[in-house]
Amino acid sequence: MQNPLRTMGVIAMGRFDSVDFFSDTSLVNHPYDYFEWLRERGPVVLLDQYPVAAVVGYDEALAVYRGDEDFSAVNAATGPFDLPFEVGSAPDITPQIEEYRSSVPYGALLVTQDPPSHAKSRGLLMGMITPRRLRENEEFMWTLADRQIDEFVERGRFEAIGDYAQPYATLVIADLLGVPDSDRDGFRQLLGPVPGQLDRSKQGGNNPLEQIGVYFFNYLTDRRANPQKDVLTQLAQARYPDGSEPSVVDVVTIAAFLFGAGQDTTVRLLAAALRFLAEDPELQRKVRKDRALIPGLVEEVLRLEGPVKSDYRLARRPVTIGGVEVPAGTTVMQLLHAINRDPRRFERPNEFILGRKNVKEHLAFGRGIHACVGAPLARAEAKVSLERLFDRTEDIRLDERKHGPPQERRFEYEPSFIMRGLKELHLEITPAR
Ligand code: HEM
Repeated sequence: MQNPLRTMGVIAMGRFDSVDFFSDTSLVNHPYDYFEWLRERGPVVLLDQYPVAAVVGYDEALAVYRGDEDFSAVNAATGPFDLPFEVGSAPDITPQIEEYRSSVPYGALLVTQDPPSHAKSRGLLMGMITPRRLRENEEFMWTLADRQIDEFVERGRFEAIGDYAQPYATLVIADLLGVPDSDRDGFRQLLGPVPGQLDRSKQGGNNPLEQIGVYFFNYLTDRRANPQKDVLTQLAQARYPDGSEPSVVDVVTIAAFLFGAGQDTTVRLLAAALRFLAEDPELQRKVRKDRALIPGLVEEVLRLEGPVKSDYRLARRPVTIGGVEVPAGTTVMQLLHAINRDPRRFERPNEFILGRKNVKEHLAFGRGIHACVGAPLARAEAKVSLERLFDRTEDIRLDERKHGPPQERRFEYEPSFIMRGLKELHLEITPAR
């Protein structure tokens, strides 16, 4: 793709100039030098190879998240790809966005909707996940954590993602949405690869959540015809904020998206938290002793190593962000790890500081009208998991046969430009007696 911004002479040049953030595997394990290289150029940088404005500044990112008039979320889940919009082709591309919305991958999902339809769908979702449902779901989390830990605790070792976090996150969402027990195990296989694959031929089809949608379509059609006393019936009877009845497809779309949104994210958060704890015995001892520190620990993990690496918007019209002029049709890339390490907002930004005062200002869950609906759920999953892992073990250590000794650690991350996630985390444990 030829970037028209190059001809405007506003393109960054330098050490990472030839690096393509969207396909270069060299950035996967350690993207931070690249982010700092961008920051040296300013809080917002127009990239060379793509019509993309990369945001690394905190205040600038907030302005984008709050600027629904200037930015569409139509590309929130895909970035600059498969967009039929030409940069600078019109003073306002809103009509083009609406015209093409149905052909954009994930275009029907909540996260890509814009006002006013977004508020309607979000209202429907909030009616499906009531505070009572969340409380019941948290009770299930405690039982489930023990059930998962039972499977490996006596073995003295486990792989945090496959043995714990993945089945845990899947089953929590399955419980939240009332998926019958008999179908739960099959759901994980339906999810496909992590979004934002650097090798784009490996990305799932137009909508990888389609298969899960088929299950929910059948459940909800059945419950509308034959109401029962169960969660699926509550979902089937959910209403839009104005009291009107949604189509089954609208409810299905939301339910399927919850599976996508709530899976890989929470899994990677758990893995990141366990990596910090396993690599820092002093930190682990402190938190084991004072469990009230767990929520602050989780926030600091989210700030430094949150599961979402990049999030996207599309400039509807020419707009200035952080002093940089961004033409209509430009993809705005929120680089969340860089934003959460902005030294203008966070002191000693690259250090893990337990109890950091303003840690909750991080943008790992986004901000504004699309701010993550699942944040309380993800936080609860992390807290419950750490509590039970601490209770059931005396210590948690890195398996150095797999990850190497302290000076030569080896960790592999998912090859995705959207997600930041360990592929595997091998841990050793001493069971509690
Ligand atoms: C650590 C875990 C998680 C992280 C880091 C995370 C991150 C995010 C981010 C950054 C956004 C904003 C996207 C945007 O503005 O373009 C978002 C939106 C969303 N998340 Fe999460 N998420 C997590 C877990 C979950 C869970 C567990 C669920 C549901 C069960 C969930 C459901 C959603 C939904 C429905 C939206 C879209 C909200 C909207 O568009 O109004 N997320 N998430």
